[in-house]
Amino acid sequence: MVKIDDVKLIELPRFLDARGNLSFVEQLNHIPFEIKRTYWIYDVPGGESRGGHAYLYNKEFIIALSGAFDVIVDDGQQKKKYTLNRSYYGLYIPSGLWREIEDFSTNSLALEFGSEHYSKEDYIRKYDDFLKMKSDGKI
Ligand code: TYD
Repeated sequence: MVKIDDVKLIELPRFLDARGNLSFVEQLNHIPFEIKRTYWIYDVPGGESRGGHAYLYNKEFIIALSGAFDVIVDDGQQKKKYTLNRSYYGLYIPSGLWREIEDFSTNSLALEFGSEHYSKEDYIRKYDDFLKMKSDGKI
């Protein structure tokens, strides 16, 4: 069963340069899965929250490219909050965990890589359903 400790905050390479810094990510290296999808969340009003749900299969990797927000991960027993506010950190979240993104700063930009194509069937949207699946050992 997936637990909170399976979430990993990963420091990315940084090339510091007076002309501007550069960071990068590679699949199956910093990102521990093959990327099938990339999306981004932008123009979020300051203080807003999104994404209270779990995925059955999709693994994700989230970078705060700009600004800051909090990612709350929850395995049904424990919760942990990660504040992402640097573009050289990525948060890896395996499938089977509840996650919410909260307190977006104005003009923040969240970049998300996924291991699966978009499928609405992959979402668990009700927290009670999530807890039931966890206690049944399904996720
Ligand atoms: P959703 O995942 O529900 O956003 P959040 O969890 O952050 O509130 O996605 C919002 C809408 O965007 C939903 O109608 C489905 C669509 N969508 C796609 O079509 N493809 C995607 O890759 C994602 C992430 C969302």
